Amino acid sequence: MKDFSEIKEQVKSKLSEVADGVQLSEFWQKYLGKTGVISGLMKEMKSVPPEEKPTFGKAVNEVREWAQNLYNEKQSEIKEYELKKRYEREAVDVTMPALKRAPANLHPISLITQQMISVFAGMGFEVLEYPEIEDDDHNFTRLNVLKDHPSRDMQDTFWLTEDLLLRTHTSPGQIRTMDAEKPPIKVLVPGKVFRSDSDATHSPMFMQMEGLVVDKGITLCDLQGMLDQFVRQMFGGGTKTRLRPSYFPFTEPSVEVDVSCFECGGKGCSLCKGTGWIEVLGGGVVNKKVLENCNIDPEVYSGLAFGIGVERITMLKYGIPNMGMFFANDLDFLAQFKA
Ligand code: DAH
Repeated sequence: MKDFSEIKEQVKSKLSEVADGVQLSEFWQKYLGKTGVISGLMKEMKSVPPEEKPTFGKAVNEVREWAQNLYNEKQSEIKEYELKKRYEREAVDVTMPALKRAPANLHPISLITQQMISVFAGMGFEVLEYPEIEDDDHNFTRLNVLKDHPSRDMQDTFWLTEDLLLRTHTSPGQIRTMDAEKPPIKVLVPGKVFRSDSDATHSPMFMQMEGLVVDKGITLCDLQGMLDQFVRQMFGGGTKTRLRPSYFPFTEPSVEVDVSCFECGGKGCSLCKGTGWIEVLGGGVVNKKVLENCNIDPEVYSGLAFGIGVERITMLKYGIPNMGMFFANDLDFLAQFKA
């Protein structure tokens, strides 16, 4: 009778060396597969004498069963081991610090827009927005900008049709407000405006804020009082304003408003070009013709209006030398502005 102890020893020692699923299936091929060592034993049947064949066959089957059992045990051991390894590999340490992602911040123009809005809202201004596409009437004619005025020139205005255009300022918001509301009126109209102009301090698209106050007894003093309050909140408590005579078709008198230089305190520096003053906006007393164009009686009511360029305020406040920086999407630049 053939002794299978040698094969059994081999199976035992080979199986004990198996360390993972791949080696396990190699083992199975080598010993338990169709062409494996144990199946090979059956081939020896030919040389076994007929009377011993049944015993031999039974013994081979016993070896196969024995090896299969060992294999099954090893298989569950390996499965468990591999699962454990996988859990270890995929484990997440919830106590690890999270990857840092820089929080987004507002664009400097948005930041200053919000600050300006909140200053004027604090003085009781209602904030309104109007269309960026305007017609000649609202953008020019009813604001007393007559047909031959240079600001209508092709070089400044983006005309869309003979009558429609991209608004060149937020001042048409004055007309739209006075058409819709009766005095007392106190509105702030922020928005994008468009002009065919581009250099270090001009962009074809920029932001303005229009202010309009209409009531009985409104004077230039009210304008200066409000603007004093505005510049103090934007540029610091000691900032003063100075009004210089100017000309706009929709205001009479018209003024250009300067602020005392917040860089040098008025002594003269490169920011204020040695003058101690910086020009920040235009304004004035609403022209009687404009009130009449909106069916408001100039004998009863008067108004003040102003227009502020948001980019200019932002450039002054942060010392930004070039308009192009607002539109370059340079994250190193943009990340510097925090509310
Ligand atoms: N609309 C003028 C501009 O864009 C700015 C302006 C000046 C607005 C005087 C006003 C004002 O309301 O009274 O240049």
